Amino acid sequence: MYEGLVKPLLFRMDAERAHNMAIRACDFAGRSRTLRRAVARRFGVDDPRLRTTVAGIEFANPLGLAAGFDKNGRAVAMLGSLGFGHVELGSVSAYVSHGNPRPRLWRLPDDRAVVVYYGVPNDGAEAVAARLARRRPAVALGINLVKTNDPSRPAVEPDVYEDFARSLRLIAGSAEYVTLNLSCPNSADDRDFFDDHDRIGTLLGHLADVTTEVPLVLKLKPTTDRGKLRDIVQIADAFPSVRGFAINLPSGRPEHLKLKSAAAVLDFRPGAIAGEPVEAYLNEVLSRLYDAIGPGSRYALIAAGGVASAEAAYRKIQLGASLVQLYTGLIYHGPRLVPEILRGLTERLERDGFDSVEKAVGSGHGVA
Ligand SMILES: Cc1cc2nc3c(=O)[nH]c(=O)nc-3n(C[C@H](O)[C@H](O)[C@H](O)COP(=O)(O)O)c2cc1C
Repeated sequence: MYEGLVKPLLFRMDAERAHNMAIRACDFAGRSRTLRRAVARRFGVDDPRLRTTVAGIEFANPLGLAAGFDKNGRAVAMLGSLGFGHVELGSVSAYVSHGNPRPRLWRLPDDRAVVVYYGVPNDGAEAVAARLARRRPAVALGINLVKTNDPSRPAVEPDVYEDFARSLRLIAGSAEYVTLNLSCPNSADDRDFFDDHDRIGTLLGHLADVTTEVPLVLKLKPTTDRGKLRDIVQIADAFPSVRGFAINLPSGRPEHLKLKSAAAVLDFRPGAIAGEPVEAYLNEVLSRLYDAIGPGSRYALIAAGGVASAEAAYRKIQLGASLVQLYTGLIYHGPRLVPEILRGLTERLERDGFDSVEKAVGSGHGVA
């Protein structure tokens, strides 16, 4: 139904408008417990081999919805019924942010990709926390925090740390884990702030004063530089609340992205590319990050980037991801992708002789 009916309709609209419609539909439908249950029956895949415990949190399966889809927690109840093992909301900032001027989201159908130039618009941590007090998903919830993107709040010390601390204070009680988005590719002035890695340590020091037990995940700017990755891991080592790492999209159009879309189409679309073209590069970063955390690490890796099949999800697990997320795949394939991936994962676990997905994590690392 999605590919035959819904997708052609949505793809005729401006991408952001279509997305907002999808959020409104989920918000509305998610208010009905009967509908949520019906959707959960249709999309859920309950298989004990997929259950996994990461950072002390139990997940029904390793597949999650990546940050950016539900920025404000409006659709979270329904999204939690689509079969995902977790949903990550956000990015949410300490204060309301309107993001970049529109248009700021475009599809690249030839690449099964999107160009994202949102600049993290969101309702602010206070409003999102209040909303989450009324509605929660049936699955594990992560909240992704980012520094407020607002020209009147430039990225300077110590304001950036205070901004994150305010969000964390407001939101920590609403989530199973919190991701700190340390490099949004589309907030030009803020994106390089943490290139000085000492600032990551300073931020974590600030946040250690916020009394919360919630596990933290650091969402990093992607790099294949092993030295930089090791450096960040070493800084995190001093802060026991850090339990994982994730990798953001590369900003702009790095050379390594091989795109089929015409240059004329790309030229007028600033922003980061998400979807299948980023898969190979982000898998390389994932693999090096897995090297950097080392075996038996207290850190888990949460990997996204171009997951549109069970094979792609399994590859990330083999490369070291404990949890895998997707976003763009949902735009191109609709919600049926979720059970399709989960069933495909169980088939691959069976094929490779793993009785639990946890045993497959890192199993392909170093194998060409
Ligand atoms: C439209 C859009 C908005 C996004 N917004 C955010 C965001 O606010 N915070 C964040 O950490 N990542 C954001 N992301 C990145 C995703 O969380 C994910 O890391 C990335 O899209 C790679 O996965 P994909 O190829 O399956 O889309 C966004 C991605 C898209 C496509």
